[in-house]
Amino acid sequence: MLETDRLLIRKFSLLDSKDLFEYLSLPEIYDFEPGEPISMQDAEKMTKERSTTNDFFAVVLKSNNKMIGHIYFHQTEPEEFLTWELGYIFNPKYHNHGYCTEASKRILAYGFNKLRAHRINAYCNPLNTASWKVLEKIGMKREGYFENKAFFRRDVNNNPIWHDCFAYGILENPEQ
Ligand SMILES: CC(C)(COP(=O)(O)OP(=O)(O)OC[C@H]1O[C@@H](n2cnc3c(N)ncnc32)[C@H](O)[C@@H]1OP(=O)(O)O)[C@@H](O)C(=O)NCCC(=O)NCCS
Repeated sequence: MLETDRLLIRKFSLLDSKDLFEYLSLPEIYDFEPGEPISMQDAEKMTKERSTTNDFFAVVLKSNNKMIGHIYFHQTEPEEFLTWELGYIFNPKYHNHGYCTEASKRILAYGFNKLRAHRINAYCNPLNTASWKVLEKIGMKREGYFENKAFFRRDVNNNPIWHDCFAYGILENPEQ
């Protein structure tokens, strides 16, 4: 369990399905993400899966115990590189209150201090301003720009809808 001024950051619990469904069922959440709106049944399955991995953290408001978003924090291969990837999705009802920034900052501290991470990476579409603003607010550096890096969807003619990608990174010790 990690704590900040306003938030608790903890493992998923089976009781989080309703809050997860509340935002992962919204089409706008997927503007810059793979996937599509989920059903309550999907949410129950995802919550169960997430409660058994170390890759997902539920972010909960201390004031009312509501789960308002989640953080993805996954160690990439090879393990000896001590590198993690950061990602996040928050409920639009709670956007632009600094919650993602507050939670992500705490996760970086956890990564460097507790997991002894050497490097933490994050990737986002350059059009996703809210996302790269969060990364810059938590001190990550824009290290790369990839054109047509990936696609999540196809157009009506079945052609890939490619998007560009910013790569951000932060090191445990920037002098190294
Ligand atoms: C990215 C996301 C998690 C940010 O969550 P959040 O809690 O709103 O983030 P914060 O409040 O900590 O910071 C958002 C910042 O972006 C700014 N912002 C948001 N939308 C913006 C826009 N369209 N143009 C310019 N700035 C914008 C906010 O003003 C804020 O910056 P500020 O503190 O300097 O004012 C949220 O937008 C989200 O869940 N998006 C959908 C899923 C997604 O795209 N995930 C990331 C995939 S890479």
